[in-house]
Amino acid sequence: MASLKQALMLFFPLLAFSSTVSSNSEDAGIAVYWGQNMEEGVKEGTLQETCQSGSYKYVTLASLTVFGCNRTPSWDFDSHCSGWDCLTELAPEVEFCQNQDILVFLSIGGMDDYSLCSPEDAKEVANFLWQVFLSGQQIPDHGQGLALNGIVFDIEGKRSNLYYDNLVTELNAFRTQKQFYLTAATGCTIPDYLLDKAIKTGYFDFISVKLYENSTCQFDGSANNLLNSWDIWTRYVPSNAKVFLGIITNPSDNGYIPPEILISILQYLKLSPNYAGINEWNRYSDVQSNPSYSDQVLPYVSKNVLRYVTEKSWL
Ligand SMILES: *[C@@H]1O[C@H](CO)[C@@H](O)[C@H](O)[C@H]1NC(C)=O
Repeated sequence: MASLKQALMLFFPLLAFSSTVSSNSEDAGIAVYWGQNMEEGVKEGTLQETCQSGSYKYVTLASLTVFGCNRTPSWDFDSHCSGWDCLTELAPEVEFCQNQDILVFLSIGGMDDYSLCSPEDAKEVANFLWQVFLSGQQIPDHGQGLALNGIVFDIEGKRSNLYYDNLVTELNAFRTQKQFYLTAATGCTIPDYLLDKAIKTGYFDFISVKLYENSTCQFDGSANNLLNSWDIWTRYVPSNAKVFLGIITNPSDNGYIPPEILISILQYLKLSPNYAGINEWNRYSDVQSNPSYSDQVLPYVSKNVLRYVTEKSWL
């Protein structure tokens, strides 16, 4: 396996020169989660500063942490804002980002209190997301909703794996009114216990695979497990979906990939026609180094940027 990959890495630059150059909107980029502004270290900055940095193609507000089964939905953007005020505070910053051609998503899930109780419940959550975060319409008693560019399913809670296929189907139905994107963020195991049925609907535009915090698929001095998982996932997803490599940017987390090694790994990922770029958890840890993790790898993320791999010790 390793020798095949070594061979591919060496030949890749030759293959790539004969391929057509993809347009900008089709090109790969960096996605980052924003909204978990820790109390120590360099703050992650405002949403506007995050977009102004020029590092990202997608920014995901993290997260809507409570929803479903008659729970009152609630979001947590840490110290940035709270409750319904977030809508008015974030609206101009979202617009700023969108004017820079950055797509702004909302993630739902993460660590907290959510699950879906029935197909009707999934429809209710979809209506809520449409009204408050996607459509930009007036919300009774709460001003104007945000007009974000998509929803990221970050379902990690082990409460229940039911009705996420209904949720993505209901959200998809709103796309007759406005174009937006749907993303599934999965663990490395196939099938993903929580999202497999939803993935099989074919409605996700992006699948972001978290290849960390699991020794069977993460970088651990060798990239073999990670590249094998990547290969399996990029072949498994529906043909319309593009795949992000989900990474963590905190050096002390399990499965962290040093930037200079990620630069090599990226050359391999680009062999997959559905490579979409990288999805970073999160903006806060990204900017703890100077230059940021993103700015160290950004020049190598595009599908059109090629680089001979001279450092193969990670294979
Ligand atoms: C790690 O991945 C393996 C293989 O996909 C899976 O069997 C295992 O349950 C995962 N471990 C955790 C802690 O998720």
